[in-house]
Amino acid sequence: MSPAAVKIRKVEFAGSLGRPDQRAPADLPHVAFSGRSNVGKSSLINVLLRRTRSKIARVSSTPGKTRTLNFYRVNDRFYLVDLPGYGYADVPESVRKGWTELIERYLESEARLRGVVHLVDARHDPTELDRQMVKYLAGLGIPVLVVLTKMDKLSRSRRKGTLEKAARALGVDAEQVLAFSAETGEGRRELLGAVDALLEEGER
Ligand code: GTP
Ligand code: MG
Repeated sequence: MSPAAVKIRKVEFAGSLGRPDQRAPADLPHVAFSGRSNVGKSSLINVLLRRTRSKIARVSSTPGKTRTLNFYRVNDRFYLVDLPGYGYADVPESVRKGWTELIERYLESEARLRGVVHLVDARHDPTELDRQMVKYLAGLGIPVLVVLTKMDKLSRSRRKGTLEKAARALGVDAEQVLAFSAETGEGRRELLGAVDALLEEGER
């Protein structure tokens, strides 16, 4: 794998999925991004796709805004799928239930899904919901990458231990955990390379 090789040439918004009767685009493989609300998912997507000046994924002042699965067609090679942030305390139970059903239906039935990038805020220990999500994906046989977001908020001394601790808490290999910061761009190349590897594995 050579992370330097991945270049973002073209990104198009390719629609949303918010109701059971809507269909996901099916002409290219998918890589989905998940994580609790406010984890920094939209910020990460904008940095990853180099859409920081004219943002493609909305960075919210009110957490829990993303309520649909959003599809971005990247390089005419794959769809980056933005999953709704779960576990946000201030949404009604009925709304949360709707999201969960929507996400689970997608994850359990999408044949083109090559992997899930699960985001965890580097400042906090993974939660029970994070553990459940990673276990659930493993159970479905879906490859998982864990990305620790907002790494710029950690002191130098806390960095290394944080990656190892997260890997242990989630029961994944340390190599499956990447550090990222939308502020500094740290981890962008590595993440693009890792996403590329998921796509290549799926093609074998
Ligand atoms: P929802 O869509 O509401 O679920 O949130 P999200 O996960 O998409 O998070 P979003 O990207 O909107 O960021 C949430 C907040 O965290 C915003 O105030 C961002 O500016 C901040 N943030 C995101 N990424 C970083 C980062 O890498 N470093 C720092 N310091 N702040 C970040
Ligand atoms: Mg968002």
